[in-house]
Amino acid sequence: MGSRARIDMLRIVVSARSDPRRPAGGFWLPRALEPLGADLRPGRYAKAGRTDDAPQAIGHQDWHVRAALVTGAAGGIGRAVTERLAAEGVGVLAVDLAADPTVPGEPFAADLTTREGNRASVEAAIERFGRLDVVVANAGFQHVAPVADFSEDSWDALLALMLTSPFLLAKYAWQQLRATGAGRFVAVASAHGVVASPYKAGYVAAKHGVVGLVKTLALEGAADGITANAVCPGYVRTPLVERQIAAQAQANGITEERVLEEVILAPHAIKRLIEPSEVADVIAFLAGPAGATITGVPVLMDAGWTAH
Ligand SMILES: NC(=O)c1ccc[n+]([C@@H]2O[C@H](COP(=O)([O-])OP(=O)(O)OC[C@H]3O[C@@H](n4cnc5c(N)ncnc54)[C@H](O)[C@@H]3O)[C@@H](O)[C@H]2O)c1
Repeated sequence: MGSRARIDMLRIVVSARSDPRRPAGGFWLPRALEPLGADLRPGRYAKAGRTDDAPQAIGHQDWHVRAALVTGAAGGIGRAVTERLAAEGVGVLAVDLAADPTVPGEPFAADLTTREGNRASVEAAIERFGRLDVVVANAGFQHVAPVADFSEDSWDALLALMLTSPFLLAKYAWQQLRATGAGRFVAVASAHGVVASPYKAGYVAAKHGVVGLVKTLALEGAADGITANAVCPGYVRTPLVERQIAAQAQANGITEERVLEEVILAPHAIKRLIEPSEVADVIAFLAGPAGATITGVPVLMDAGWTAH
């Protein structure tokens, strides 16, 4: 590329950043520089259902996160992610078993253990927002039992919700993620996506599986600017963990404080629970400009668990 063309491109980037049409909300994602001759037509985003005036695809440099789908949005982590993205000005379809009006964003009820539930969720997001930039596959649950007693139904449900649902969401949303030019797929996996604990066969298998899924998505999506990652937290302060603490305290006849200190936090080097907002921060980071080259990895935020 000649120096003249380089200077022209820099001008385009600078003018895009100072563009008064730039909206207040959302992330501002500079795209990789592409050849000139881009689509400069006003209202490029109007075809995606937007009636406002931004951004105008200046030199194809910019991509703006406007619409996200978050599953398990009524729970601890999903609620925090939904709140965080909504606070950034992103439209969020907040999917859970029941539509929860207390969650910011647009509540939507779906059973994600079914194909119909996943398809309906993606279709609803596209219908509401006219586009889909970010998918956060977060819904999950835990079932604890020795393998010989592990119910087949629990196994099926764990795999359906925490492995098949992320696959279906990616499959159904793929064309929209491609259309944005910088789509983001984030699965909330777990430290149990890279290490195991006894009595959690279904959970550990599903979480390991979803780490494999995002690696594949990363390779398939790279040419279209799509990134795919699995956020892998240690124990997070949510109803899912609170239920485990209460169950263990009852089963072992000890206080919940002792379960927290001696069982739950045992693998953590940092001896505290992770806050849901901290997981939301990592997901927002991945969805923003800094996440552009992070793809196909388990993003461990496990308080030092897997450093052992
Ligand atoms: N809490 C932790 O310590 C921790 C650690 C690592 C990973 N995770 C993962 O984070 C994700 C969120 O967990 P959380 O701790 O916020 O749990 P949570 O129980 O607070 O929230 C889970 C949400 O998923 C929803 N859900 C369950 N089944 C569903 C279905 N069939 N269809 C639609 N929605 C359904 C629930 O209604 C709930 O709102 C899960 O995938 C979990 O495995 C949690």
